Amino acid sequence: PTNQSWGGRFSEPTDAFVERFTASVDFDQRLAQHDIQGSIAHATMLARVGVLDETERDAIIAGLQEIGQEIADGTFAWSVKLEDVHMNIEARLTEKIGITGKKLHTGRSRNDQVATDIRLYLRDAIDAVDGELLRLRKGLIELAAREADTIMPGFTHLQTAQPVTFGHHLLAWQEMLARDQERLRDCRKRVNVMPLGAAALAGTTYPIDRHVTAELLGFERPAENSLDAVSDRDFAIEFTAFASLLLMHLSRMSEELVLWTSAQFDFIDLPDRFCTGSSIMPQKKNPDVPELVRGKTGRVYGHLIGLLTLMKSQPLAYNKDNQEDKEPLFDTLDTVQGCLKAFADMVPAIEAKSDNMYEAARKGFSTATDLADYLVRKGVAFRDAHEIVGQSVAYGIEHKKDLSEMSLDELRQFSTSIDDDVFEVLTLEGSVAARNHIGGTAPDQVRAAAQRARDSLTAL
Ligand code: ARG
Repeated sequence: PTNQSWGGRFSEPTDAFVERFTASVDFDQRLAQHDIQGSIAHATMLARVGVLDETERDAIIAGLQEIGQEIADGTFAWSVKLEDVHMNIEARLTEKIGITGKKLHTGRSRNDQVATDIRLYLRDAIDAVDGELLRLRKGLIELAAREADTIMPGFTHLQTAQPVTFGHHLLAWQEMLARDQERLRDCRKRVNVMPLGAAALAGTTYPIDRHVTAELLGFERPAENSLDAVSDRDFAIEFTAFASLLLMHLSRMSEELVLWTSAQFDFIDLPDRFCTGSSIMPQKKNPDVPELVRGKTGRVYGHLIGLLTLMKSQPLAYNKDNQEDKEPLFDTLDTVQGCLKAFADMVPAIEAKSDNMYEAARKGFSTATDLADYLVRKGVAFRDAHEIVGQSVAYGIEHKKDLSEMSLDELRQFSTSIDDDVFEVLTLEGSVAARNHIGGTAPDQVRAAAQRARDSLTAL
């Protein structure tokens, strides 16, 4: 036969280019250990229902375990002629244990096999990503607790808006990541369903017990419908959608880190080990890690659109198109893992330059809203108060003075409702401390929020 797995009905060998063109072994060998795990469970189940005898089962399992070792040691000889990871392993099994190896594929197709492999692989990868995400969130929460009193300008439109605490800003990041983690865990539920037993598309005539296989592999349950089980890759799309949102968030954080390390902001210092230099400008220290994370977001978005487009219009059930699911999924995983590791390592090492943050908050009339609220408390209507403070700011711009640097007489030019108790509200400390409710920026609220965040992680 031209191909030992399916060549029976063929009368000429596959075209050499077509052989290479249709092969996936170069990239799907990443699934090898999970393929073996699935095969061992399948053989165990076949023996349980009497399709294999125990000697056959033991030979298959021992052979597969040796192959797993060969692959781990790097001594396994992969062959493009054998098309994909599944047939490479099966052919090697037969080489090792003889005719019994050919019985492993009883009641199974590569269609349900590959769908099972990807799910097993992705489930492990999700658990690794989950751990890194947790590590990053822990780092953020502890940094936020340390910086609960640190005052910085808060921005809207990237213009100084109102003072906030740095800890509050960091906890905003952690909230984004908390939702991402929820999405990841939700996605895992739908990944953790077993296609095996669907065979090519319609199920199999052997008396298989899919509950046994599902339990052996730690799946929540066997997939309900054989056609659906072998054909959909929505679970991979869902993971990539999770990844896109996560990277969108990391990219926003990256952008802020890049801004904050610039000479113009100078709010934070990133340790040298997370930065690189310039080959021509000796003074440079560039925030490459956040820049690269920002950039890698694009490739993950690309994979999301790629996978969605791959699946659209595919008729039921399996089509070879689906072989194209692996590279985008693997690259998404690698990218997410790299970006999360970089961030989890880097975040605890961020050093706040609190004096610079404080000065910046003092500069942009960031307590103007506090002055307006003060006037309202003195009986001025808010719209009138807004106008009065606007005039004070215009005066400040002209005379290069912040509101807190003006004398009482200067301030009273704009409203006689202003008394000398105004200076308490014009300070940055007074401004942040006054936003003292759940979700507000007051240092006490930030400490309480950090504690709630810690508790929520312990509960995970
Ligand atoms: N390499 C294939 C894939 O990744 C395995 C399934 C092939 N099935 C088939 N009938 N050609 O999808």
